Amino acid sequence: MPKRRRKQVLVSANEAPGKDAPGWWKSAVIYQVYPRSFADSNGDGLGDIGGVRARLGHLRDLGVDAIWMSPWYPSPMADAGYDVADFRDIDPVFGTLAEAEALIEEAHAAGIRMIVDIVPNHVSSEHPWFQAALASPDAPERDYFWFRPAHGDHMAGGDNMAGGENMPTNWTGEFGGTTWTQVPDGDWYLHLFTPQQPDLNWEHPVVRAEFESILRFWFDRGVDGIRIDSAALLFKDPALPEVTDGEPHPFHDLDAVHDVYRSWRRVADEYPDRALIGEVWMPDVERFTNYLRPDELHAAFNFDFLGCAWDPALMRACIDRTLEAHAAVGAPPTWVLSNHDVTRHVTRYGRADTTFSFDNNLDRTPVDLELGTRRARAAALLSLSLPGSAYVYQGEELGLWENEHIPEDRIQDPMYARRGHTRDGCRVPLPWSDDEPPFAFTEGGPWLAEPSLAEPSLAEPWLPQPREWKDRTVQAQTGDPNSMLELYRRAIRLRRAEPGLHTPEMSWLDHGPDVLAYTRGPDFACVLNLSGTAVPLPDHVSPLLLSGPLEDGGLLPPDTAAWLRLRQPRSTQRE
Ligand code: NOJ
Repeated sequence: MPKRRRKQVLVSANEAPGKDAPGWWKSAVIYQVYPRSFADSNGDGLGDIGGVRARLGHLRDLGVDAIWMSPWYPSPMADAGYDVADFRDIDPVFGTLAEAEALIEEAHAAGIRMIVDIVPNHVSSEHPWFQAALASPDAPERDYFWFRPAHGDHMAGGDNMAGGENMPTNWTGEFGGTTWTQVPDGDWYLHLFTPQQPDLNWEHPVVRAEFESILRFWFDRGVDGIRIDSAALLFKDPALPEVTDGEPHPFHDLDAVHDVYRSWRRVADEYPDRALIGEVWMPDVERFTNYLRPDELHAAFNFDFLGCAWDPALMRACIDRTLEAHAAVGAPPTWVLSNHDVTRHVTRYGRADTTFSFDNNLDRTPVDLELGTRRARAAALLSLSLPGSAYVYQGEELGLWENEHIPEDRIQDPMYARRGHTRDGCRVPLPWSDDEPPFAFTEGGPWLAEPSLAEPSLAEPWLPQPREWKDRTVQAQTGDPNSMLELYRRAIRLRRAEPGLHTPEMSWLDHGPDVLAYTRGPDFACVLNLSGTAVPLPDHVSPLLLSGPLEDGGLLPPDTAAWLRLRQPRSTQRE
């Protein structure tokens, strides 16, 4: 098999990452905690901060560098907490501000950084600003939002109140459906998501000042980073044109948004080693990396990779595109396989169509979970060995699949009514131990620490867990060398120890068109077989880690990845 280095791509990943190195976000493994579903310490069926504190040991054992907490603020939960009523407090369902501060401290003591989620595009309709705006058409708070009089010839429908007036535009919302709701005095307000999430007017200086103050509030409490929700949607064309092919989009990626992130960067830079991480869904890679220019955000989620098909040419092109685009702005690439909005990748990789997009609703199309799991194991070794930072969505380390069998009357995601697809299937509470639901999801409460307290009766988890997860609990997988959990633990440990994975570049090895193979540093290689037959490995001293067993003759089976120590260090290899 020819081994030829083809291309070296330089990126700005940390030369020598480590917990105390500046620029920790450049190479960190970041674990997303979706607090409703992580662990429940008070038996109400919903996860909470007490549960995260009780289970912090799991994240320490996994070896992650940072936790990103999805929203934990007071919220009516119209969109599972992405409808925030107060950015400076914690919803009682999750705990208290004091508990949040304790978690930040405990995570830091465990060597884990903390990232909180800020939602600047909209607030909850229960937010005091919106309540004041509703109280009177003359309230100054109306200008913090997008209130407009009836206009045009668009019929009210969907979520809108009855009234027969006309909406200001015919835009389709991000969850589908209309984007305007009428209030009793006849005006309409804009909401790109649900009516309970009115959009803020980012032209208003009060809005801008408020969010800078919110950033400081959390930075002052020691958080190390901010995840920015719907980061590209903040500005709207005030002329409110319709969405027209070939014309600038009226609310996606307007240039003015960059000025906001430049000012947020100045705030972050007032503190040592803080990071801003954007949720930017953007097919155009150049427009995407505009958000990562040196005076803007530090990093952004790689949705290109998350949506990419399990296909050698497409994956390689995606990796190249990512590395080159990030190198151009000096930002670290990120590698993301799953999150709380998308189909879990064990399921996605087990389907005939292995892409993800909100437009290709593949719910309940046939899934081969054994194949999906094999590919997910290989994908873990890929995403954890590419230059940059890697994200792990809670449960990914357990090999959880999408629960596609949630009874309709238990679906909570507001997207379901508008788009016919629910994100609840990836938000199901984690299985920790035991042989049946709730798999100790609801354990970990004060009664464990104080046996004198009577154990309260436990509510059912807010979404049903598949019974088959009994083999996927943390307890069942711990110590099993073939488990997904032990694969992640070993991979993250090796990633930290392996000098090659601390270098900023990777070089492709030519191993045929259907095999992704690359080196990091002089003698580390990752090989991922995306072909239909087993292939020989490059000449190596020993496999460092395999996502599955080799075949006879040391061949790497399809849908399997290997981390290798090469026999001939790269500096002595012939071109
Ligand atoms: C993106 C978040 O990840 C998603 O969960 C939420 O529904 C929307 N933004 C609206 O905040």
